Amino acid sequence: AALKKYDFNIQVKNVSRLCNAKSIVTVNGMFPGPTVYIREGDQVLVNVSNHAQYNISIHWHGLKQFRNGWADGPAYITQCPIQTGRSYVYNFTVTGQRGTLWWHAHILWLRATVYGALVIMPKEGTPFPFPQPYQETNIILGEWWNQDVETIVNQANKLGLPPQTSDAHTINGKPGPLFQCSEKYTFAMEVQFGKTYLLRIINSALNDELFFAIAGHPMTVVEIDAVYVKPFITQAILIAPGQTTNVLVKADQSPNRYFHFHGCPAFHGCTTCCGQQDGHSYFTIQRHSKHSSPQLSPNYRFPMTPRINPCPTCQNGTQVVASLNNITFVMPKVGLLQAHYFNIAGIFRTDFPDNPPAPFNYTGAPLTANLGTTTGTRLSMLPFNTTVELVLQDTNLLSVESHPFHLHGFNFFVVGSGVGNFDPKKDPAKFNLVDPPERNTVGVPTGGWTAIRFRADNPGVWFMHCHLELHTMWGLKMAFVVENGKSAEESVLPPPQDLPPC
Ligand code: C2O
Repeated sequence: AALKKYDFNIQVKNVSRLCNAKSIVTVNGMFPGPTVYIREGDQVLVNVSNHAQYNISIHWHGLKQFRNGWADGPAYITQCPIQTGRSYVYNFTVTGQRGTLWWHAHILWLRATVYGALVIMPKEGTPFPFPQPYQETNIILGEWWNQDVETIVNQANKLGLPPQTSDAHTINGKPGPLFQCSEKYTFAMEVQFGKTYLLRIINSALNDELFFAIAGHPMTVVEIDAVYVKPFITQAILIAPGQTTNVLVKADQSPNRYFHFHGCPAFHGCTTCCGQQDGHSYFTIQRHSKHSSPQLSPNYRFPMTPRINPCPTCQNGTQVVASLNNITFVMPKVGLLQAHYFNIAGIFRTDFPDNPPAPFNYTGAPLTANLGTTTGTRLSMLPFNTTVELVLQDTNLLSVESHPFHLHGFNFFVVGSGVGNFDPKKDPAKFNLVDPPERNTVGVPTGGWTAIRFRADNPGVWFMHCHLELHTMWGLKMAFVVENGKSAEESVLPPPQDLPPC
């Protein structure tokens, strides 16, 4: 194991996309930000210095941060943000995890431009449990707005409306060549005929579930959310914000440009969007020759991706809120982990209800049946090592979309999911307790439910939220307090000296 040090300078940078220049918040002037490339067992120090006008914090999405919530990053949950002109070192050791994860800003909507890949290689001398690829590439799917994202969000919030949807989807920060001014800047991956490549696909989009496919190239999925899976072949993957998927692809077609394709997003706010082909990027097959440039046919090849349900129409709402068990989570002004560690009273309550107010028919109820939400910073207490089962039920009141739920501090097992109302009498009998998928972010289907289980063996305060930024903003979030165990080895580590003040 090694000690790996990174400097993350948060700085503003002018970039131009879709014929339009604007300044964005970046890490080291890079968009997307630098890849953190480490090995299982490494200790990592990331010194984040903030030279931008926004307060910031960085989250290492999917890393368990055992006893070390201080390095987890969600603003006001595990730390106060790093203020302009200040710095903070995220100090963590990667134990028992390898694969593709990612990092992103975890405050406001800054993750629109502040994100990058977190690649954890297996320990030295440990091969992948699948055929060794010839090369690997990160494919980070994202969204791009022509205007300043924070300004858009603030204006929309004043009006009580959802902010306008993004202007393009991107691969590695670049829109596809069919957008204006984009041909030259499109992400292209040049490959050699006959070789197999590992693609580390990350969905960093703020609000869109996306399809990914490559024309004429089936993909073998080998890893999901940094957990190896039994390999399977697919033509297209559906990936939700927060999720990561590794696939192997063999470049066995004739030279051409083979588009990666972000299909119709599962939900695209209040616009009609379906059928729109955007965010293309391409995959270029080159016959191996050192001296000649690739001969490209002028015909692009587009993959087919499944279609998803039509877009919903705009709500003429007064105030849109989202809730869990009818509670709309209110962000505190002090980091919850500090409040917990130092026993600061009055910051949060520990009475998050175990169940929603009964009785409630989640899928057939009239809209009015669930409007009695309350607000609060109410957390759920878990004694150390409790086994937890959560049933995430979509209540489907305003929109038709699935919610990618992300839990910090743990991987969980997805033991079941279904459409309609969860039936506590019948559904548990169908749970997969033999080989359930292990993840950190899972989709709760539209009008349906997903059941997950985890062991609360990581003491601290851990955020759980929908990874659609719009919904997080509306309150679709809560946190768990996992109490210390009996020994020091089962307790939260002391906070670092440079933990940002509030
Ligand atoms: Cu990737 Cu709490 O987030």
